[in-house]
Amino acid sequence: MSLLAEQVDALLTGETNPVIALANASAVINAALDDTNWVGFYLYNQHTETLDLGPFQGLVACMHIQPGRGVVGTAYANNEAMIVPDVHQFAGHIACDAASNSELVVPIVQNDKVLGILDIDSTSFNRFTETDKQEMEAVVKVLALHLDAESLAAVY
Ligand code: SME
Repeated sequence: MSLLAEQVDALLTGETNPVIALANASAVINAALDDTNWVGFYLYNQHTETLDLGPFQGLVACMHIQPGRGVVGTAYANNEAMIVPDVHQFAGHIACDAASNSELVVPIVQNDKVLGILDIDSTSFNRFTETDKQEMEAVVKVLALHLDAESLAAVY
């Protein structure tokens, strides 16, 4: 397990409130990464069938994203982590913070269901490597082990 995955594991052990868990997860991931301007979560809302803003570090962000739309909605619809080296070349990219130039998105999967998306933005182009993607997939796997889907569904 990477140091970051271990930190997330230790931090979330015993925490059943998903807002608390995700708030600190966004903080620990943000602290571990250089050159990022936004780190946070979009959670799938079963009632509205949208991806809704969750805990994050960064500037004011879009609050509701349709599945299939933008980088976040595409990662959700395809259940696939994705590196976007230049968001301006991504058809349908949703510019929440105009300063963002590249993005990494990772679905949070539990029991074959996508609960939400970890979204990381950078003002640099080509910020994210395949190694970053693999590390964040491992971190999100640990996160998914700790997330209480029922409690999450009570909020989203
Ligand atoms: N750029 C994302 C929207 C979320 S913000 O980056 C925080 C997208 O295209 O889905």
